[in-house]
Amino acid sequence: METTIQSERRKQIVEYCNNRQQIIDKKSIELLEQEEHWQEILEGITEPIVAYRKITEKLAKHGSKVAQTNEEVEIKKGSFIAHAKDVDPDFRIMEEYEVTNQSLSEGKIGDFLKYFRDKYEFLSHLLENRTGFSPVAFTKIGRMDKYAELDIIGMVVKKWVSKNGNTTIELDSPEGRCIAIVSKDDFETNREADKILLDDVIGLKGKKFADEVIIIKSIIRPDLPQRPPKKAERDLSVMLISDTHVGSKLFMEKEFNKFISWINGGTYSEKEKERLGKIKYLVIAGDNVDGIGVYPGQIDELEIKDLYEQYNKFSEFVKKIPEHIEIFICPGQHDAVRRADPQPAIAREYVKDLYDLSNVHFVGSPSWVEIEGLKAMIYHGASHHDMYMATKHLDAKQPELAMIELLKKRDLSTGFGLNQPYVPEKIDYMLIREEPDFYFAGDMHHKGYANYRGCTCVNAGTWQERTDFQVKEGHIPTPGIAIDINLKTRKITENNFYQKEV
Ligand SMILES: [Fe+2]
Repeated sequence: METTIQSERRKQIVEYCNNRQQIIDKKSIELLEQEEHWQEILEGITEPIVAYRKITEKLAKHGSKVAQTNEEVEIKKGSFIAHAKDVDPDFRIMEEYEVTNQSLSEGKIGDFLKYFRDKYEFLSHLLENRTGFSPVAFTKIGRMDKYAELDIIGMVVKKWVSKNGNTTIELDSPEGRCIAIVSKDDFETNREADKILLDDVIGLKGKKFADEVIIIKSIIRPDLPQRPPKKAERDLSVMLISDTHVGSKLFMEKEFNKFISWINGGTYSEKEKERLGKIKYLVIAGDNVDGIGVYPGQIDELEIKDLYEQYNKFSEFVKKIPEHIEIFICPGQHDAVRRADPQPAIAREYVKDLYDLSNVHFVGSPSWVEIEGLKAMIYHGASHHDMYMATKHLDAKQPELAMIELLKKRDLSTGFGLNQPYVPEKIDYMLIREEPDFYFAGDMHHKGYANYRGCTCVNAGTWQERTDFQVKEGHIPTPGIAIDINLKTRKITENNFYQKEV
């Protein structure tokens, strides 16, 4: 009976496309003939060639079972032998920077004081040690001559443009407050001042103008020291993906299945197999599921409307990744943890099956993992948004530039009062206390890479189609890309599953 219906549908599909002067291939017809509402699917495709990919997308959006059955992952084991399978892993989750199970904040005033004190002490100490920089206490400025050169350190409490057009910064320190001014004619320092956010701890070189007022000549950030990239001894790789958003109608299941098949050796290219065989570590940088109630009206955008079910599906994918790969998973703002940074690891109750696997490790955001002797800082990246919104010189299409700005701040937070909330923990987990070799992030749904002072910044793309919000924002994501980074050479390679046939 079913066959008769399908054969009838086949004729109708061909006729329908002929009438619309569209070309459709056999594979697409075979898929569509299984779908009762095939005409609705075709109506939405206006191009002269009806692409198979377009059909699967429309079927998925339509919630069709046909799309799901046809997107089942096919793991091609074949003769693939991974080099990484024969070696023991060498990694350490750096518990000293891990907020999971350490969150002690009650959000009281005392917590804020401890948080600011910890932050000020760490960042001012970094600045004090800079060569050619000799900061004086604010209390000594009064005794200095007008126009005397001086260096100071302070925390930014206010920033504004004066009536005369000069950028003005109010700084706080344990010895009191002062006002620092950048002349509107000093283009270069103004550009630097634009990147300064509230709560930043900065150094200033300038000259005294009045007892509590100085003119800024240059701004010094805590920053990373200049250093060459450190390289691992073993020829192994770490792979980065992020923002899978499992459970969303826009989750790119077909592409993600291709990735899962590929990481199991599903490639015909010998060169690719060799590279693939070196993958010993995988970082998944948050927004693992789409979540529930993350934004108003989200329920209509969900394919899976139950949070546990979303994690069950996510877990099924992770279970298909070869067990010789050590997997580190941090949360994002769509995951089932608090939205405020620092975010603790996703709790066992959501991902029981994965907690039972010895190669899967749940960490916070941010978190630090030492891999093959190299230190990787993993952060989903919520504060990156605030960097774009608060400054003029950054672009969401180049997430690596926001990452570099945060490295210069030595602080992943963008201060209280912007969009991203923070919990004032007694230890500030957002500070970049060491010099990372890698900074892995996601969140922007846009890939980006940069090497900055020995640190390789890598922002992953996404596995979610362009959202309505992104359309409104004019943001075009880079979906379906897994990035591998060789730990010995620090070479970055993109693996694009958006176009790739595996
Ligand atoms: Fe995301």
